[in-house]
Amino acid sequence: MRTYRIAAIPGDGIGQEVIAAGIKVLETCARRDGGFAVRVDHFDWGSERYKKTGAFMPENGLDLIKGHDAILFGSAGAPDVPDHITLWGLRLAICQPFDQYANVRPTRILPGITSPLRNVSGPELDWVIVRENSEGEYAGVGGRVHRGLPEEVATDVSIFTRTGVERIMRFAFALARSRPRKLLTVVTKSNAQRHAMVMWDEIAAEVAAGYPDVRWDKMLVDAMTMRMTLRPETLDTIVASNLHADILSDLAAALAGSLGIAPTANLNPERKFPSMFEPIHGSAFDIAGKGIANPIGTFWSAVMMLEHLGEKAAAGRLMRAIERVTADKSLHTPDLGGTARTDAVTAAVCDALLGDNQ
Ligand code: IPM
Ligand code: MG
Repeated sequence: MRTYRIAAIPGDGIGQEVIAAGIKVLETCARRDGGFAVRVDHFDWGSERYKKTGAFMPENGLDLIKGHDAILFGSAGAPDVPDHITLWGLRLAICQPFDQYANVRPTRILPGITSPLRNVSGPELDWVIVRENSEGEYAGVGGRVHRGLPEEVATDVSIFTRTGVERIMRFAFALARSRPRKLLTVVTKSNAQRHAMVMWDEIAAEVAAGYPDVRWDKMLVDAMTMRMTLRPETLDTIVASNLHADILSDLAAALAGSLGIAPTANLNPERKFPSMFEPIHGSAFDIAGKGIANPIGTFWSAVMMLEHLGEKAAAGRLMRAIERVTADKSLHTPDLGGTARTDAVTAAVCDALLGDNQ
């Protein structure tokens, strides 16, 4: 029997509720499959720990999870902790040292979910956004001097390296090749940013030469927002820098019906380090503890985790179970306009998994 060791980091707010639900579903997947087991270790890293001890995770935190097969992350952020402290204290403190440079964000309109786009019923919108996840605008390079004085200066410097751009382009072209349409759009801003973004475009063209079967085009990020909204059917796989993809993936999630559904994988494709899977939504303190958080974003992230672990059959089963449940409007949580509770959605997904005969 294959046993996967999963490090669970629920974090803050609704992260606690959706990760508990996600683990139930993963355990049910394993039971239904019969070929593998999951062993989950829990880590209480997050804002509460920061407020008590001054650190989101212990000093040897990375050592504690580097031997795991995957990480399931909930969400980090509390109303009384500045967001940049949280991001750098936990999520980036894992993503960067574990070199999870490929952030993958699939977006589809699941059955039963309505897009805010008038002419989109479902199949027109089926995208995967590949976000460069290790450098660019999130490199953390910069500084601030003369605080509070009139001559105060602050910089955030984007860093683009040939290695970093080349590997994300290769990843994106390979992913595009694996999808039926073999279509990639490279997002850029090389009209205004004349150094790094021009190199980004040049490297895209170089890498493209190795993937002659992939059709690709280039799109300025501002024009991309219009194309996503007005001609969603012309897009398939999308690659963008860290910040561009951050922004576009929120737009994508909204166009697909809800941020509560959107999943993501922070991958170290070489598997030198564990990869991390998480719903895109935040800690949502306004609804935390009420039992109404949408667990679908976490379940879909668990599908991505199972795919990464090589459990294709189980991943397929879980995705079918999710789609069966979203198709039933009585199982929609309030973010989707329904009244269902997290527990009911979780139980329904588990039932659908156990009832799946493929
Ligand atoms: C995301 C989020 C994060 C980001 C926030 C929480 C810092 O928006 O994963 O898209 O900007 O990377
Ligand atoms: Mg974001």
